[in-house]
Amino acid sequence: MKKKRILFTSELPGNSFKENLNHNEFEIFLAEDIEGETLQKKVEKVNPSGIIALLSDKIDKNVIDSAPALEVISNYAVGYNNIDVTYCHEKGIYVTNTPDVLTDATADIAILLILMVSRRAVSSDRFVRTGHFKGWGPQLFVGKSLQNKKLGIIGMGRIGLAVAKRAVAFGMDVIYCNRNKVEKEKEKAVNAQYVEIEQLLKESDFISLHLPYTPEVNHLIGKNEFGIMKKDAVLINTARGPLVDEKALCEALISGEIYGAGLDVYENEPAVEKGLMDLENVVLLPHIGSATEETRSEMAEMAISGCISVLSGSVPENIVKPF
Ligand code: DGY
Repeated sequence: MKKKRILFTSELPGNSFKENLNHNEFEIFLAEDIEGETLQKKVEKVNPSGIIALLSDKIDKNVIDSAPALEVISNYAVGYNNIDVTYCHEKGIYVTNTPDVLTDATADIAILLILMVSRRAVSSDRFVRTGHFKGWGPQLFVGKSLQNKKLGIIGMGRIGLAVAKRAVAFGMDVIYCNRNKVEKEKEKAVNAQYVEIEQLLKESDFISLHLPYTPEVNHLIGKNEFGIMKKDAVLINTARGPLVDEKALCEALISGEIYGAGLDVYENEPAVEKGLMDLENVVLLPHIGSATEETRSEMAEMAISGCISVLSGSVPENIVKPF
């Protein structure tokens, strides 16, 4: 019997992906070994039954149609806005993702950004490295406390809840908005109060985004929303870049409409709005929300096992459906 083909768009961390797969059953291809200028061309050449993709791989109709044998696309990410899931659904192609395993790592990064912005960590570090530290001073890099501050979480799914849990440990009060109110016990565990987005924007000292990206929430946070926020509000985005109008953010940071921002994701990733680069009140990380050795290995296992399940005729665990 002809072996089914799996195309990895990139090698994954953890154990070597080649050793992880049963070679009697599958033929493994790595995109960088395949000739072709675009992913579409490579997909066309291999005609895989399974693709293991990164969040930076745009899997659109053209790519999908280039592989008539395609049965499954396993995204090495929890977010899947890089894949035309509706089209896959129409064609009966499974899409899987990697939820849960990256929840804690991503929540840690959101808290890290809150602390880095509020305690001016990057500027302070640069100050020391450039030889400017001449001794302790009462006004030296004074930032903001987290204790008794209000954290507004937009998107109270797994990651939002994990951020809330951490925020409670810092003595913060949590309010949130979400498509639906979360279950009472979950709210209670983090003492979170459900509010409408307008109230959240108005009252929060820190606002952290944890919702999936869809075109409906493009620029959810823009000029109008910065106008509603407190003057000393801090915006954190570890979800997806296009949720925030980066130009408007830049203007809000320059004009002092808000205090600061911490970003791990960008509107036109990997490009970053030029104006942001020169600002001291924004911390910029290179999309490292899930970047721990442990998490990335677990993501690899999950993505691979989702793909193998489908190709072996079973229903995978983490099926993604169109919104
Ligand atoms: C995801 O999995 O969607 C994250 O953005 C990766 O860090």
